[in-house]
Amino acid sequence: MSHRFCVAPMMDRTDRHERYFLRTLSKEMLLYTEMIHANAVIHGNKDNLLKYHASEHPLAIQLGGSNADDLLEASLIAEGKGFDEINLNVGCPSPRVQSGSFGAVLMKQPYLVRDCLKLLVENTNIPVTVKCRIGVDEMDEDKDLDNFVTTVKDSGCKTFIIHARKAWLKGLSPKDNREIPPLNYERVYRLKDSFPDLEIIINGGIETTNDALEHLKFVDGVMVGRSAYDNPYPLVNVDKEIYSRSKLIPTRAEVLEGLVPYMENEIKNGNKLGYLTKHLMGLFKNTKHAKKARYTLANIDDDIYPMEKLKLLINETKELC
Ligand SMILES: Cc1cc2nc3c(=O)[nH]c(=O)nc-3n(C[C@H](O)[C@H](O)[C@H](O)COP(=O)(O)O)c2cc1C
Repeated sequence: MSHRFCVAPMMDRTDRHERYFLRTLSKEMLLYTEMIHANAVIHGNKDNLLKYHASEHPLAIQLGGSNADDLLEASLIAEGKGFDEINLNVGCPSPRVQSGSFGAVLMKQPYLVRDCLKLLVENTNIPVTVKCRIGVDEMDEDKDLDNFVTTVKDSGCKTFIIHARKAWLKGLSPKDNREIPPLNYERVYRLKDSFPDLEIIINGGIETTNDALEHLKFVDGVMVGRSAYDNPYPLVNVDKEIYSRSKLIPTRAEVLEGLVPYMENEIKNGNKLGYLTKHLMGLFKNTKHAKKARYTLANIDDDIYPMEKLKLLINETKELC
């Protein structure tokens, strides 16, 4: 399993339908679930929450939480379900997450993060990784980030995914915290220089495979979030350009066609077509038919029987390819 190219965990976006779709674009890239709180894994409907399609591998689960025992219990459940990696969220600044004492606030508690990760590293048989920021609030992006990593790596965790901007825990919304604090890629490159034995994955604002290749000169991997969701089609180039695998590049029409059996099956199992098609809105981005395709995908007439609707939809959007 390689972290050279990862698609970021994104709440309400990287659900299993999105991940299935993304996997049809690249066999190699590493996919992440949305963040799931450890307690939800332990007490929730596991079959539903942890459901995924076999084709989604390699697939990491991202956990939220700060209670080591709960995180371990959730990790063991996830390992049992066949996930390939456990990732701990130490980067989410949302007020709800802060009030639960997990996510980005944990950057201020490196010893707690270390202890949680140590328990997971020592008691699971799959990689345990962490996703964090370069700092929060008044933390010093240089000294304090080095201290954080120095402490946390004692857990045995060897892979650090770094969103290359700080988060401000008060005053900025989660969305603002993905846009306003400036990106500092150089700081992440320096982290790799200081900790050459760690696997350092850079995240934030990466849009193209060319961007990714540039970062890969300095770090071990890239993680792409919004651009993978908003403009997914270019991911068809990842296997060739990032992993040097020979591959036939599918057209947008072939991508759509390839999704039909999956969609038919999901509809048969009672899922709504809209849950599946909402992730395809960006497939036509930067083409002259982008607007029409989005309109077609968004305006699904619920009066038509889903299978018929699906065929109509595929035909209409294929004509735009
Ligand atoms: C809608 C949305 C939901 C997100 N949810 C999560 C999440 O569940 N866990 C997490 O670690 N980061 C989450 N993020 C942050 C992304 O993983 C990523 O770090 C951030 O968007 C910066 O990368 P990008 O510039 O490539 O989008 C989310 C981002 C967005 C846009």
